[in-house]
Amino acid sequence: MSKKRFQNQVVVVTGASSGIGRAAALAFAREGATTVLLSRSREKLEKVAEEIGAFSEGVFVAPADVSSKQEVDAAIANVLAKFGRIDVLFNNAGKSEVGPTDAPWFIEGVQEMFDVDFLGTVRVTQAVLPAMRRQRAGRILNMSSVVGRKAFARFGGYSSIMHAIVGYTDALRQELKGTGIEVSIIHPALTQTPLLASVRPEDMPPPFRRLSPIPAGQVAEAALKGLSKNRPRIVVPWQPKLLMLAQAISPRLGDLVVTLLQTRMFSWVFRTFRGRTYQHSSS
Ligand SMILES: NC(=O)c1ccc[n+]([C@@H]2O[C@H](COP(=O)([O-])OP(=O)(O)OC[C@H]3O[C@@H](n4cnc5c(N)ncnc54)[C@H](OP(=O)(O)O)[C@@H]3O)[C@@H](O)[C@H]2O)c1
Repeated sequence: MSKKRFQNQVVVVTGASSGIGRAAALAFAREGATTVLLSRSREKLEKVAEEIGAFSEGVFVAPADVSSKQEVDAAIANVLAKFGRIDVLFNNAGKSEVGPTDAPWFIEGVQEMFDVDFLGTVRVTQAVLPAMRRQRAGRILNMSSVVGRKAFARFGGYSSIMHAIVGYTDALRQELKGTGIEVSIIHPALTQTPLLASVRPEDMPPPFRRLSPIPAGQVAEAALKGLSKNRPRIVVPWQPKLLMLAQAISPRLGDLVVTLLQTRMFSWVFRTFRGRTYQHSSS
């Protein structure tokens, strides 16, 4: 039997109570990891721990709000007191606000996302780094999104935060060069999770109305594969790479691909629409 990819490694997953984080926690556990589940709701985390407990003993619940430095520091201190090390950190906790950039709530929404998605990633990383530095080993994976490389209309706030995470991760990766700590970023496309259920259909960017969301398990598998191969950037599925390439050449070319995404022909050729939109499922 082949060796499990994360055997005996201590893996912290933030936002593990739901969606992509839950799927990733289950996948790490299946690959032999001792999985630490971090998010605000102890109750939801206990449910995921129960699922993992059905096939693994290595699971630990560490409730914390990533917008509180005090809670994050205390949760990570507990993990280190119990296990003595942290091998992998997946910064995945996040929320999203959708709507135009001149919406009355825009500034407040961006401030909230900045505090949770961006500074949450920074707080947990800063709490974990001293231990990883002592170990002279570790892997950090930060959650961004396809919109962290190419914004969509109505996703201006969320896209800005996802771009900010890309900038932070790029700097962090270079600062940690030679320390034994690897840093990666993941850019998933629209993914079928409870996050989508909170978005009103009329607020969604038009291209999203013709996109089939990918399953959370597919993002989790891409994360594990990318981490085990030490890939600095993970894009899942492959199709958004075309959009990112177009945007890197010229914003107008990027805009053109966004427009094409809404057409039947494009979505059929590139298999971005499989007869099901985000409205048809939310978990
Ligand atoms: N779904 C998509 O289409 C998509 C695409 C690309 C990237 N992403 C990113 O993927 C990540 C996970 O999203 P998802 O779709 O899986 O959403 P989800 O199902 O709503 O999960 C979000 C997770 O974040 C946790 N969380 C939220 N605020 C928190 C806080 N202040 N402190 C600690 N934990 C917090 C939630 O747990 P509690 O409520 O228990 O705190 C939950 O576990 C997000 O960063 C999102 O931006 C999502």
